[in-house]
Amino acid sequence: KPMRLWGGRFEGGPADALTRLSVSVQFDWRLAPYDLLASRAHARVLHRAGLLDAAELERMLGALDDLEQACRSGAFRPAVADEDVHTALERGLLERLGSLGGKLRAGRSRNDQVATDLRLYLRDHVRHIVSRLVELETALMSQAEQHAATAAPGMTHLQHAQPVSFGHQLLAHVHAIARDVDRLRDWDRRAAVSPLGAGALAGSSLPLDPQAVAAELGFDSAAANSMDAVADRDFAAEFLFCAAMIGVHLSRLGEEIVLWASQEFRWIEMDDAYSTGSSIMPQKKNPDVAELARGKSGRLIGGLTALLTTLKGLPLTYNRDLQEDKEPVFDAVDTLLLVLPAVSGLVATMRVNTARLEASAPDGFALATDLAELLVRRGVPFRDAHEAVGHLVVWCQVNDTILERLTEADLAKISPHFAEAGAEALAVLNVQGALAARKAHGGTAPDRVRDQLVALRETVDGQ
Ligand code: ARG
Repeated sequence: KPMRLWGGRFEGGPADALTRLSVSVQFDWRLAPYDLLASRAHARVLHRAGLLDAAELERMLGALDDLEQACRSGAFRPAVADEDVHTALERGLLERLGSLGGKLRAGRSRNDQVATDLRLYLRDHVRHIVSRLVELETALMSQAEQHAATAAPGMTHLQHAQPVSFGHQLLAHVHAIARDVDRLRDWDRRAAVSPLGAGALAGSSLPLDPQAVAAELGFDSAAANSMDAVADRDFAAEFLFCAAMIGVHLSRLGEEIVLWASQEFRWIEMDDAYSTGSSIMPQKKNPDVAELARGKSGRLIGGLTALLTTLKGLPLTYNRDLQEDKEPVFDAVDTLLLVLPAVSGLVATMRVNTARLEASAPDGFALATDLAELLVRRGVPFRDAHEAVGHLVVWCQVNDTILERLTEADLAKISPHFAEAGAEALAVLNVQGALAARKAHGGTAPDRVRDQLVALRETVDGQ
């Protein structure tokens, strides 16, 4: 007869269809180490409450250690009949302790237990995710360092807009990831609240000490309201938002890399170790890592949507719907831990085609704004300067030439403003000058990019 945690008032066993529907051990087994951790803390609080004597506590802790070893080695596995991780572990405890094993459940419910386990699991794994994010930041920053002064086409609407430092563009992605790390750190402050002690929903009549248990498990505090403690899944939803946001950032970076690696751009060459071939076209080198980073953002967004939809409309407190919180959370953790190292490797090993970037930086009349701003510095209203440069661009197109090839005489034909500017107008028509000129805080001047890098390195070191 399968062991259940709730058999007492039932005459017949559950229908197979119910068992199949309700079983969660196939996905919640990964909570086992955290469930055991919480069980140790619970055993100690039962002892302090006088509900386990010293010898019982010692046997209990010994059995929990033994069970943990057995879980680790695979000697203890959840059985098909175990409803969930809590059931499986209680079976393991009973196998080791006989009836003493049944004392651990006093004052505790799976409702506060599962909420505690999931918080412990997630706080632990968020630390791993943060480490992987820092690796990506580091990879982007070392490329940015090498390309602080490499001019590249800066784009809006995917059209050449103004030249930028390629390092500046790479650091833009670092800022996004740094915000993700910051969000996860901030998330942890709110996640660091222990539900244990809430019992099923109302707290316990036994003299337990939820605050001591919270401290023992590394939480900052114990939940102030037992009903909130078992009903709240904000921490899971918030984590899924953070994960989805990371997914979106990786997707945008991935999309850029797909473009950069294309024949049309040829800004980068991917390392063989981070690109794939085609089964039919021998010449192909495909950006699958970047595409999967882009593609997997879909399931991260889906997980967030799924959990919010599950939570919406649930009455307090625990409802079995809440069992649906785990799969999206686990999937998001797995997905991020899978994608991040691959994207970091891709970024760290890509070779930047500096010559190609520099050569295409002024394409598409990208220095037009510099010319207009020169006129502004000479006192011309921007509106008139904009107009004059616009005419100049059309003139270049009609005469099949580019701004950098114009002579003073060409310029003078278009507008008296250019005639008055003379050689100064020609002088602003170079890419490195255009970068260096954008030297205010946050601008793309290579010196500012290097300042940015110093500040970011400090931030990332603190992460
Ligand atoms: N497996 C459940 C979950 O993941 C925990 C069990 C609580 N079940 C219950 N019937 N109160 O949410």
